[in-house]
Amino acid sequence: MKSKIAHWFYTWKHPVTDLALENLKAASRAADRALAGNNTPSPHLLYPTNRDIRVRPQSNWSPLVRLAGLIYGRPVPVELWQSPATGILGPLARSRKSARKSRIAKENAILFWQSDGVSRVLKISLALRSHAREIRMLKTLAAFDGLVPQIEAADPNLRWIVLEKIDSARQLGASEQAERYLSEIAPGYFRFWGCKAKPVSRCLDATITPNAMEQEAHRLSIELPQDWQSGTMDWSITHGGGICEEILIRPDGRPCLLDWEKATLAPIGEDLLQVFEHQPEMTLQFFSKISASDTLPVATQLAIILCKRSLSKRKRTKINPKSIRSDRTCAAHLAALGAKTVGKA
Ligand SMILES: Nc1ncnc2c1ncn2[C@@H]1O[C@H](COP(=O)(O)OP(=O)(O)OP(=O)(O)O)[C@@H](O)[C@H]1O
Ligand SMILES: [Mg+2]
Repeated sequence: MKSKIAHWFYTWKHPVTDLALENLKAASRAADRALAGNNTPSPHLLYPTNRDIRVRPQSNWSPLVRLAGLIYGRPVPVELWQSPATGILGPLARSRKSARKSRIAKENAILFWQSDGVSRVLKISLALRSHAREIRMLKTLAAFDGLVPQIEAADPNLRWIVLEKIDSARQLGASEQAERYLSEIAPGYFRFWGCKAKPVSRCLDATITPNAMEQEAHRLSIELPQDWQSGTMDWSITHGGGICEEILIRPDGRPCLLDWEKATLAPIGEDLLQVFEHQPEMTLQFFSKISASDTLPVATQLAIILCKRSLSKRKRTKINPKSIRSDRTCAAHLAALGAKTVGKA
């Protein structure tokens, strides 16, 4: 009991992990140098909330922040070269939360600021993983018309990136983001990479066994056809993140998709299942158009990915209820279609 109190008090006094603080300061200074800014640093505060850590210029310290400080931890003063900056450090930069994990691989800070009338974003890796993948994707996709934010500077050691800030005219709901993705982003994107057929067995492993998949399908009240294990699926370079949360619309109307750090070679059903939840018919139409001729029917591919996604979640100690609802919605769409019977267009 005593040690719990001591731990609580320690994390109240030091709410931000040392690693996060060091990485934030180093990246802030290096990014300023890379942009040839002649800024001197100015005082900011990192103040913890129950979810993450917010960044504000010290002069904006409101009574509300003082109150939050009493509960979640003492605000931490920090000198930042991007000024005045606002932003956020992800939940695992909080000492209290990170103490529950043995190793923090991924956590970021996002800072927003303006210099010379230009709005910019500094994305910093606060943990072990670098931004190599995101930098590579943003550079490759820069050839697309505004699909990704432009890189203004990148760390040679891949720890941070300075991006153009997308001033989105308005916030879109998930369904509208799915629609814009399917109509304006996905066609050109998958034409660029192309799709390749790979065996379903590549998605299975020691815990995602055929048996477990079939049980999961049963649990979700969807059907997998007899021959599902011997079929092939369409693979490409996927975004891998939350597509229906990461689309911003530029002031001139072009959509921009953010956050490519999870991009990888994977079944495209992983990305398409996310939009399928909100736009089932449009997704099937699009998927059927780009799918290779000898792969499994697209609804079956989505059913396989859904079972895998649902099974993987069950290994976690804490499951987000929103993501369970999402699986149920996808399952209901698939059941309504009859996963077995839907073929290619
Ligand atoms: N270039 C940008 N222009 C405008 N807003 C941005 C930009 N980059 C990031 N953001 C905002 O910051 C949020 C977090 O950025 P991003 O998703 O890249 O980081 P993250 O660490 O992966 O965050 P999360 O874990 O919440 O997805 C975005 O959802 C978006 O609202
Ligand atoms: Mg993100």
